[in-house]
Parts: sequence; C-alpha cells; structure tokens
Amino acid sequence: MSDEFLLQMQDVSKTFPGVRALAGVNLEVRPGTVHALMGENGAGKSTLMKILIGMYQADPGATIILGGEKVDIPDTAAGLGLGISMIHQELSPVPEMTVAENIFLGREPVARFGLVSRKQMVSSCRELFQRWEIDIDPRARMRTLSIAQTQMVEIAKAISFDSRIIIMDEPTSAITEREVEHLHRMIRQLKSTGASIIYITHKMDEVFNISDYVTVFRDGQLVKTLPASELDRDKLITLMVGRELTEMFPKEFVEIGEVVLSVRNLHRGSVVKDVSFDLRRGEILGFAGLMGAGRTEVLETLFGVVAAESGEIVVDGKSVRIRQPKDAIDAGLALLTEDRKLTGIMGVLSVRDNMIMAALPRYSPGGMLQKALIEDACQDQRKALALKTPSLNQHIQNLSGGNQQKVLISRWLLTLPEILMIDEPTRGIDVGAKSEIHRLMSALAKTGKAIIMVSSEMPEVLGMSDRVVVMHDGKVSGIVDRADATQERIMQLATGPAGVTGPADAA
Ligand SMILES: Nc1ncnc2c1ncn2[C@@H]1O[C@H](COP(=O)(O)OP(=O)(O)OP(=O)(O)O)[C@@H](O)[C@H]1O
Ligand SMILES: [Mg+2]
Repeated sequence: MSDEFLLQMQDVSKTFPGVRALAGVNLEVRPGTVHALMGENGAGKSTLMKILIGMYQADPGATIILGGEKVDIPDTAAGLGLGISMIHQELSPVPEMTVAENIFLGREPVARFGLVSRKQMVSSCRELFQRWEIDIDPRARMRTLSIAQTQMVEIAKAISFDSRIIIMDEPTSAITEREVEHLHRMIRQLKSTGASIIYITHKMDEVFNISDYVTVFRDGQLVKTLPASELDRDKLITLMVGRELTEMFPKEFVEIGEVVLSVRNLHRGSVVKDVSFDLRRGEILGFAGLMGAGRTEVLETLFGVVAAESGEIVVDGKSVRIRQPKDAIDAGLALLTEDRKLTGIMGVLSVRDNMIMAALPRYSPGGMLQKALIEDACQDQRKALALKTPSLNQHIQNLSGGNQQKVLISRWLLTLPEILMIDEPTRGIDVGAKSEIHRLMSALAKTGKAIIMVSSEMPEVLGMSDRVVVMHDGKVSGIVDRADATQERIMQLATGPAGVTGPADAA
C-alpha cells in the first residue's frame, strides 16, 4: 500500500516563539513526480521542507516515512544521507570559493596522501555541468557570478547528490524565461529517473507547466492536495487566498502628466549604451528584457550606485548630476533593488525599524522621533500589504521570504518619492499580496508620482505598464505603447536583431 508513496509526512506541527508555523500537516508525495507547494507568504511551505531535510525539528508527534520506512532526520547530514537535498530560498554561496569548491563543499574528492584533488574537483564539476548543459566556468569565484548564475550553481549542487527527493524553494525567483525553460527540462529528466521534485513557487504558469500534483497551504495548514490536471488558475487562487480574487492587475486609468524625468544618451561601460527615454507624472513605465540586457544597470546608474560616464539626466526640467545615491534621493528618486535579500535586510532589527529606516528624516523633525506617527504609518503598511508577522517588534530575519520583501517595499513607499524605481516588485510575493502591491503602484501613480518598473514577468509588464521600454544588450531596442504591447512584440525586441540571439535552446 504505502509504496504508492515515496514520502509521507504525518501530523507535522512546528511552533516558533509566538508563531504556529505548521499545524498537523499530512503531506504525501509519489515517486517520479513533480509536487508543487503553493500558498501565501508565511503559510509554512519553507518550514515544512526545512523539517524534511533535518534543518528544523518538528514538534513531538510527527512521523516521516520514506520509501515505506519510518525515519529520523536529526540534522541535514542525515537528510542528505537519506537522499534528500534542497535548493534554499535564500542563496548562501561562499563568495570567495570557486564554483567547483562550492559544489563539492564538505565532500571534496581526495587524491593520494589524503589531499583534496583540485583537478578532480574541477573535472567532476565540468562533467556535471556538461551533462546538464550549464555554461559556467568551474574555476570562477562565486562572487564574480550574476544572481542567475549563482542560482544555477545552487541547482546543479542540489542535483549532484543523486537524491531521491529534491526540494526547490522558489528556484526561479532570480532567473529569466530562458533559464526557467532550461531548469524545467532538467526537472523532467530527473523525474524520469524516479526522483521526486518538491517545487515551491508563486508562479502560476510554472505550476501548470511542470507539476503533477499541487498542495496548497494556508496559515500553517494543508488545505488540499490535487492532481494538477484537476486545477485551473482561478480554482488554485481561491484555494490559496481563501476567497476569489477578482482583479489580477488592478491597473487604473490615470491622467498622464508632464515629463518628470528625461534621460538622454546615458552611457556606462558596456552595460548601458546610449539609453534615452522620458518618464511622465502618473506613468508606470515598464522595463522588459532578458537577463543581462542592462535594465538593472540603468536603474543603478540613475540612482548613482555607479555613476554614468556620459549622458544627461533631467528631473523636472533641471539637469542634475547623480554621482552617488544621496544625489538621487535629493532629486526625488527612490530605488528598490532586486536583490533585496542580499542588500536590503537588517536581520536583527525589528520589522518596524526596517520599515521606517529610509523615511526617518520625515518622522523626526528637529531630531524628535514621532513615535505615534511612525506606529500609525507602519500599521497602515502592515495592513495594506497583508504582512504576516506576530508584531512589528519581530526581528525581520524570522519572517518568511515573501514577508521580508513586503517590509522592504514598505520602506520605500514610506519615503513618498516623486520617482519610484522598482526592480522586480513582486518577485517571490504571493498572488494576493501581488495584487495589493500593484494596487499601491496604481494609487501612487494616481497622485502624480512616476514609476519605473523592471520586471521579468510578462503578465506583470503587460498588465501594469503604460509604456514598455524593451532593452537588449545594454541598448533600448524599442519603446512600445500599452495598446501595442503584446508578448510577441516584446520578446522580438528583447532578443535583438535576428541572428544575434543566444545559443539555441532546443528542447
Ligand atoms: N526561525 C524562525 N523563527 C520564528 N518564526 C519563524 C521562523 N521561520 C519561520 N517562521 C514563521 O513561520 C511562518 C511560516 O514561515 P515559512 O517561511 O515557512 O513561510 P513560507 O510559506 O515559506 O512563505 P514565503 O512564501 O513567504 O516564503 C511565518 O509566520 C514565519 O514568520
Ligand atoms: Mg518560503
């Protein structure tokens, strides 16, 4: 009977101080399947998986049955030994190590005299990459890799253990369409060897694309497990949110005003080439393109993270020099970066402090901290973004991945910038909160603010932008009006002139 399932987790509960993360969960996974876990931010998905790999211990009373046998998983070494590996939601590479060292960390091949064989490590790594068609140099230092490449290394590492169960916690949050397709091909291949993949994602399309079964979590409880074939988008959203979500992209009609930002011939090394565009009050300007097209670099240059080499930036009719972020902030710009987890979070500070940080000058006139106003402002944000935290005093590092992101979005919304630049605004955010963030963007635009939104999610670009700037190879390859913006048109521009696209991705 039980060999129907590769894995059974029974009666799993987990309590953190002040938080019931999981309550009596029963999860069953069949061999050779892709099993998606979905649910709102903070629903308990990552916690359940951390219990499975032995990183956390469940509250007493839980049972884990693997291949028909009851097992104990006291630590991650035990988990790995049982054939369970995981790609974590938070990337954790050692920056000074090489790619190969990172992959074989703790299990380095040994040559004669017990020495680590570097040569062997590099060649094993090269073999692994060849087999999975990954184009990264095993000898490169981790810190020289892009976020997307780092993610590919983590993926390669997780599958290199020949595990029976491979857990992927939002593996595609940092990679673009082409790499997503690559990963999905890898998953199909793994599946055919009998391994099961537990796949956590907030992206609907992916779920329907690759999963065989879907389990929905809400508030620490398992709501339902269903074959993917019995689900559709609306049904899934209703299960996750517990109500029907009427509007996926609440874009409001806003009167577009005068030009507030004018960028002319912006240039920076080989990453930003001759970029020009205008941004108007009330406008949401989407930036589309493939990974490495230069979208993030344009934002960084406008914000003074790295100064431009040439070109002109005009804000409200005045030419401004932006050499450092302070110049940008003074000019009324705010930037919410894409790698929020790496740069934005002050882990040991409270949710409140993390939220108010950037807006502090406004809330402390004459050096007097206006505590009551701060409390109101933070509580408003907490409500608006449906932030899941026991209190504003909680350390932000104890929040789920998606909820940490919501706090950082609040941080910049509270500064009330004239021009808000957001890189991947809803990456890793659940559907309900996603539409709340879109609603907030619309509301900001309505008050005359201007928004630049870099996004790799086509539905988001098409749903929220008044115009779409498409980039390819550091250059603007086209600017498309909302009325003419289709997925085909944008992909055409994003892949550049014919014949200049990357290596063919034959399935
Ligand atoms: N180490 C911890 N200490 C305290 N609370 C924690 C800890 N880890 C998780 N939690 C809490 O447990 C709950 C479940 O979190 P979990 O990370 O499992 O959510 P999730 O479903 O993975 O969400 P997301 O989609 O945002 O990643 C949340 O309320 C979170 O704040
Ligand atoms: Mg999580």
